[in-house]
Amino acid sequence: MGNIFSNNKKKSHSRREIKKMEKEPLKYFFPNFVKDTDIMVIFHFLECYLFQNLFSSPIENSLLNECKVLDVGCGPGTWLLDLAATYSSARFFGIDLFPIFPKEIKPSNVEFRQGDVLNTLPYDDNTFDYVHQANMLSVFTIEEWFFVIQELIRVCKPGGYIEFSEPELAVKTGPVLSRFYDALVTLSDSRNVKIRISNEIIKTLVSLSTVRNVDYKISTVTLGAKKGGNAGQAYMDIHDGYFLNDPMPETLCKFMGTTKEGYLKLFKEAKKEVNETFAPNCEIYRIWCQKI
Ligand SMILES: C[S@@+](CC[C@H](N)C(=O)[O-])C[C@H]1O[C@@H](n2cnc3c(N)ncnc32)[C@H](O)[C@@H]1O
Repeated sequence: MGNIFSNNKKKSHSRREIKKMEKEPLKYFFPNFVKDTDIMVIFHFLECYLFQNLFSSPIENSLLNECKVLDVGCGPGTWLLDLAATYSSARFFGIDLFPIFPKEIKPSNVEFRQGDVLNTLPYDDNTFDYVHQANMLSVFTIEEWFFVIQELIRVCKPGGYIEFSEPELAVKTGPVLSRFYDALVTLSDSRNVKIRISNEIIKTLVSLSTVRNVDYKISTVTLGAKKGGNAGQAYMDIHDGYFLNDPMPETLCKFMGTTKEGYLKLFKEAKKEVNETFAPNCEIYRIWCQKI
């Protein structure tokens, strides 16, 4: 297979390893603690606003009837809860490594469980009509992505759809913001994490014989309120959350040749740069395919 995910082995975690991981510093840098779920919620509503809907796969008819939907790495469960409110005949399942989803107060057609997609999903083959995964760009190594994609396909029914939603790092950034992005790419590369993941997902899906009708849509938002309006301000808030929440400052500052204090000062300059001169465009990809 001609893509960067090729030639890899499955990596799995036992329960004991997951417990240990919960006490360790995060291996990836999108915050996932309860205090940071606000960022995920803002991102969900921003994405819905930009695309003007909750999904792009041609799955509406199935959702109006009885069908089963899975969200992998569901976080606080916002996407599922939003869908469940509209499509009451369908059943919704969310799984996440950390139990930051609602445990009791939720609609009766939504179930959440704790689990690790890298340890194989705890569902039989061909279970779901629609499998969704969003905002995992800095979570998996390139080897893990290949395993995860195959796992999502495995649990989807033939004829069902698999959809990914991933933001890309902005391009044409000014010199100060570029320092942050360059450091993030270097840090990610050092961990075998590819931060610009959307095109790799597309290439991989196209190369697989288990799926067809690979398609994608891109929505663009301009960073910062001055040129991007309310959406640009919301994206800026998410951007702040990503770069300013622990453990990002003290990790990334080392890759930028500065101290944590220097990092925070530079980040203020980067925001000024975005507001005054360079307002880069950020793309969000939705990528989907149909299982054969
Ligand atoms: C950036 S958040 C995205 C959450 C949600 N998909 C959203 O868009 O709001 C990444 C989520 O993936 C979860 N996660 C990370 N590794 C995972 C794994 N191996 N299996 C399942 N979930 C995982 C994290 O706990 C976190 O909730």
